[in-house]
Amino acid sequence: ELILNDENVTELERKALKKAKEDPWRLKFHLMPVSGWLNDPNGLSEVDGVNHIFFQYLPQDTRFGSPNCWGHYSTEDFINYKYHHPAIFADHGFDRYGTHSGSAYEFENGLRAYYTGSVKHPGDFDYVNEGREQNLVLAEDFNPKTGKFKSVQQLMSNSDYPQDLTLHVRDPKVFKRDDQYVMLLGARDKKDHGVVLIYESDDGYDWNYKSRVDSDGEMGYMWECPDLVTLDEKDFLIMSPQGIKRQSEAFQNVFHSGYIPLDGFDMKPTLEQFREFDKGFDFYAPQTYIDEKGRRILIGWMGLPDFDYEYPTRENGWIHALTIPRILTQKDGVLLQKPLTELEELRINEKKFKLNEKPLITEVPETFELILTDVAKKGSITIRNGCRFSWDEGNLRLSFVDDGEKQKEAGAGREQRVARVKELKRIRLFADTSSLEIFINDGEMVFTTRYFPEINENELIVESDGSEATLYDLKAFKVENEAGEILFGK
Ligand code: FRU
Repeated sequence: ELILNDENVTELERKALKKAKEDPWRLKFHLMPVSGWLNDPNGLSEVDGVNHIFFQYLPQDTRFGSPNCWGHYSTEDFINYKYHHPAIFADHGFDRYGTHSGSAYEFENGLRAYYTGSVKHPGDFDYVNEGREQNLVLAEDFNPKTGKFKSVQQLMSNSDYPQDLTLHVRDPKVFKRDDQYVMLLGARDKKDHGVVLIYESDDGYDWNYKSRVDSDGEMGYMWECPDLVTLDEKDFLIMSPQGIKRQSEAFQNVFHSGYIPLDGFDMKPTLEQFREFDKGFDFYAPQTYIDEKGRRILIGWMGLPDFDYEYPTRENGWIHALTIPRILTQKDGVLLQKPLTELEELRINEKKFKLNEKPLITEVPETFELILTDVAKKGSITIRNGCRFSWDEGNLRLSFVDDGEKQKEAGAGREQRVARVKELKRIRLFADTSSLEIFINDGEMVFTTRYFPEINENELIVESDGSEATLYDLKAFKVENEAGEILFGK
């Protein structure tokens, strides 16, 4: 097993960057692993004007399963990024299977990260009730210059958690509420029900178990990545449940992620109260934070665990990415997701069209934004002969199986997703070289998906009689490493 450190990670990345130059699907305005595999966003925070975006990172592999580290990007403006050496490595014993997910919070003595120190013991174990450790770990003494946390210590282990739980207890989310530090942990109990544990602390070191949110088996056997947001004095509990049964128009991916309106820390929600964040193929494990402007920002993982992707980027040595950042607001108990305003800085070459019975057929670059208003009752958008989004009276459909082989290939084994809204008024679509994020109305629903169109396919076809369409080409991010070398973008 490779024990990761700055030197071998840099070496892996150097090789990967050479290969990446020939990969048509490297993204232009999304954060990716420089090499290998990326999953959950972690430790989202802003300190002195710098936003930190850490992530689950396996530079040595495009499949999950070896010890990972926390990768790290930072940015002041969400257009220019710094890429740092990993912030935390799995080299402490109590995290030897990986520095799994967690959060960051700015305390008086600086930024602290709380993460899951994972251990898997070799042997014939079920890895639910035996053979696994999930430790609560605190990393502090953060140096903003090097992006490293100097001191790391274990705060809790499985024997400290309530004893009706299995060994799956992870993904600490720490924040302040009413002058108390609060920590949420996602867990699986021995009845195989998902649970969120609530802890409190005065100092962030000593944590006391207070209560839990749980439910019956309908809401899944495990709740990963809990989070809590308060908007207009309403609380929402976010989590990524595993094990909810597929329905005809809901819960169509292998795992799901969404939220419930939270009514007390001992609430028992029902499945009806749970609302999915996203209806596309690639969205999971989102995390939020409040930035220094007071905005509640959400970033998700454009991917899913425990699913054998046949994404073509794997051959080029990398897989998965993070979503664009989105601002959360609430309306009537529904969380709305709006693309971060800063992304408007990427726009160039505005074009406006008034649509009539004839479809709009135009050439687009690989990265563009489309806004469609006064949407017709029935219509469709076909993007680079790779994916079609269509609608009919509020019935929405994202499809890779409408037209021929090229779309099928672009879908990399996925077929279609459907969902319904009361009324479709507005669509805002962000297309990157190999991803689509389609925001419905004011962000009440989003379809996030990877797609892999051919490089020379550049046609956009929009059918929506009577609509106004606005089209922008989008520029790329600029990403520099600590030595000031440009890794991606211009
Ligand atoms: C969610 C998750 C977390 C875990 C992490 C490991 O995708 O399974 O629960 O901490 O990924 O990388």
